[in-house]
Amino acid sequence: MTMQNKLTVQALQWTGSALKVLDQRQLPEKIVYDEYTDALGVTEAIISMRVRGAPAIGIAAAYGVALSVRKYYAESNHWRQKVAADIEMLATSRPTAVNLFWALDQMKSTLAKPLDNPITAVLACAERIHRDDIAANHKMGELGADILADAKGVMTHCNAGALATGGYGTALGVIRSAYQRQRLNVYAGETRPWLQGARLTVWELAQDGIASTLIADSAAAWLMKSGAIDWIVVGADRIAANGDAANKIGTYSLAVLAKQHGVKLMVAAPTSTIDWNIDNGDQIEIEQRNPNELLPACYINEDSLVSAWNPVFDVTPAELISAIVTERGVVLNPAEQGVRGLRHAL
Ligand code: MRU
Repeated sequence: MTMQNKLTVQALQWTGSALKVLDQRQLPEKIVYDEYTDALGVTEAIISMRVRGAPAIGIAAAYGVALSVRKYYAESNHWRQKVAADIEMLATSRPTAVNLFWALDQMKSTLAKPLDNPITAVLACAERIHRDDIAANHKMGELGADILADAKGVMTHCNAGALATGGYGTALGVIRSAYQRQRLNVYAGETRPWLQGARLTVWELAQDGIASTLIADSAAAWLMKSGAIDWIVVGADRIAANGDAANKIGTYSLAVLAKQHGVKLMVAAPTSTIDWNIDNGDQIEIEQRNPNELLPACYINEDSLVSAWNPVFDVTPAELISAIVTERGVVLNPAEQGVRGLRHAL
């Protein structure tokens, strides 16, 4: 069976009447799926990071809207207002990943059409978003693997894999496709403070029989200095029209280090991650998470003199990015023209 046909681990599964969400907080120790039957549950699943990763958040939210219509259409004359309120609630779940707002806009457009059966129409839209995301990942995998043809070693950061998407992954999709073609040493940064790299990425790769080497985030410069990697491959949570890309905190540091060491940086993301409305990365809202994710327990009290600053994304300027890979094509050196040319590309 080729990797194209093989099912990678699935973060989200539609059962026909509910959304099953793999609880990523429990990986890799436990594989536990929770089932949600309404938008409130899906919102909480996103807030609590049971489901995480920009495309997966968008897909989950789309199913959340489908569940909302399912719940209210039969029981209330005011179903449209109730669904609109659920859409507003879902939109508050995470601020940085634009896929969330993109997916909710797709659902709103579907609802704005004349519909014989709103329940089936919105579900069809959510399923299409899910299917298209998987297809986009496979396409990016091939395009990105072409670029990595001569690479011997790559590093990734955070988790931009099947767990963060509909399946196969963005950055990990590229790594999966490249790994099928050539011998490739794969390094993953542990990605403090939430450890998406240590808990999710290396586990996910191992599920597919892909060997990887985990490094402390602080070992990245020394790894690059050793000559072990040619490329860093990451995903994105929001890309501005000029090619600036928001991704998990630490990506910017890696980009700066990569420049110093002659290592290239690839950002792999579907066009649903591009925010056409913003010119540059300064306009991207960066999520701040609970300082307690960082603080040792002894500092978590009212009298403590120790606080923590915990932004969970940063923005890498386009000039530090060598290639942006999308399902619509590749933009090399995005600092030159940005990604605007992809907007109407097929
Ligand atoms: O905060 P998270 O875990 O939801 O982080 C999002 C991400 O997984 C990434 O930043 C990722 O690299 C891009 S989404 C495929």
